[in-house]
Amino acid sequence: MRPSGRRDGSTQVRREKIPVIPVMYRMAMKLDAISRERLPSLLRAMPKAELHMHIEGSLEPELMFAFARRNGLSLPYQSVEELCAAYAFTNLQSFLDIYYAGASVLLREQDFEDMGMAYFGRAAADNVVHAEIFFDPQSHTARGVSFETVINGLTRACERARSELGMSAALIMCFLRHLSEDEAFATLEEALPSRGRFIGVGLDGSERGHPPEKFARVFARCRDLGLRLVAHAGEEGPPAYVRSALDVLKVERIDHGVRCVEDPALVQRLARERIPLTVCPLSNVKLRVFRSLAEHNLAALLGAGLCATVNSDDPAYFGGYINQNFYETFATLPALTARHAYQLASNGFEASFADVADKQRWQHALDAIFALPGS
Ligand code: ADE
Ligand code: ZN
Repeated sequence: MRPSGRRDGSTQVRREKIPVIPVMYRMAMKLDAISRERLPSLLRAMPKAELHMHIEGSLEPELMFAFARRNGLSLPYQSVEELCAAYAFTNLQSFLDIYYAGASVLLREQDFEDMGMAYFGRAAADNVVHAEIFFDPQSHTARGVSFETVINGLTRACERARSELGMSAALIMCFLRHLSEDEAFATLEEALPSRGRFIGVGLDGSERGHPPEKFARVFARCRDLGLRLVAHAGEEGPPAYVRSALDVLKVERIDHGVRCVEDPALVQRLARERIPLTVCPLSNVKLRVFRSLAEHNLAALLGAGLCATVNSDDPAYFGGYINQNFYETFATLPALTARHAYQLASNGFEASFADVADKQRWQHALDAIFALPGS
């Protein structure tokens, strides 16, 4: 600023004309100024919500062998190496066969608690501040393990995540879609005494040939019970399954959903209604939904204005937890920038079923990491 003479002889500080840039644009400019070199440390440090994680899919080979040993069971593999060599999946079903077999070492409450704590420890190290965790009761009750055993162990792990790690954690009970509607209803009945210990229900397992319509009445009942609703759709199945998950099951989030891009009108609807997609890039490559990470459509989903998030799915089987998903995807897709990293983390909070106050707190912590105005 430079002084200017006035008619009465006094001087006045004249303000240069500085263009007023709205906060939103200032934020975007700051984000765009962040170099790619800084991305890995920002991806690591940013607080995150994990919204698509099957707890049985976090069972690491070493833990699987340890549980088998302590429960007096034998696995059809001699070593961790031999087991890992079997993790060469060709599609979703080839994975699910091994995943259900792996879960058969879980027998006691302590197994479920230990598995949960192993996951929460890794999630905390990845700066996950909130996790909504799937569990598959039917893969345990079918083996004679009671629903109570499963929910007691997992609830204890969620409580410990809160008290020992300062992480917020909640459970979502999934129905296996290759099983019948009657079996899903029976599972729901069994779960009802524990109604306060899970926040919602989901739908997982073999997608092809098992459309959402099969579970319309079960989801309607869950809705009446005030449960939150999500479903896997558009992973291997067609975009029509995403539509029926929304219209028939009335879900609030779509798990995966990456095949929505085959239906442009559906993409527009997802963007307009801000329906979150819980995307799992490493899973999509391992299960051959995409041939490689370079072909993944995450950048296109964000570009279309969708509320996409990044998640782990089954990290013990797919090569990494949430941060690994972020690192590898950002390292592989040049279109992804700091602005996308911020957007993905922010979308995770928006898409979560947490309280508004918690969401705001995490959002402020995220803004502080990116040193944005108001943080
Ligand atoms: N159960 C565990 N992981 C799954 C996936 N990626 N799709 C469907 N069901 C699952
Ligand atoms: Zn999944």
